[in-house]
Amino acid sequence: MFVLFPALWLALSRARQTDETCICTGVDYLDHETYLIDGTKTGNISFASTFEGACTDVEITPTLQDYDNNQFSCSKITSGPPGSIQVSACSISYANLYSGNWIIVLPHSGTGLVEARSFEIIVSRPLTTSTAP
Ligand SMILES: *[C@@H]1O[C@H](CO)[C@@H](O)[C@H](O)[C@H]1NC(C)=O
Repeated sequence: MFVLFPALWLALSRARQTDETCICTGVDYLDHETYLIDGTKTGNISFASTFEGACTDVEITPTLQDYDNNQFSCSKITSGPPGSIQVSACSISYANLYSGNWIIVLPHSGTGLVEARSFEIIVSRPLTTSTAP
């Protein structure tokens, strides 16, 4: 009985999670991954998310943060309809982006946090060399 209880509790909490929780999944930037990014691209960095579960019509303003806690706000998205892909553009251009560890935070007004994705970016730019004539 004592041994079976944790398994039962886990099954119950899983069932409850799929019923009541808003689940957000990254499309292009995934947790713990490393991405090579072309630093000569024009425009601002953006990222895509999908939402499932009990999170329809919640407005979310994500932030992009580096590991020195510099924060860049991103455009508002809505957590739904389920299965839709929501793209958010952040207030830093590819030209200003730098290599390092970054985190995308998607706060949820009800729960405090929908999801956070932590990943590494390696920005590639052509070497600018000055050659003497
Ligand atoms: C792009 O980033 C700049 C700041 O670097 C910001 O002023 C501008 O509003 C951003 N544009 C979009 C579409 O997010």
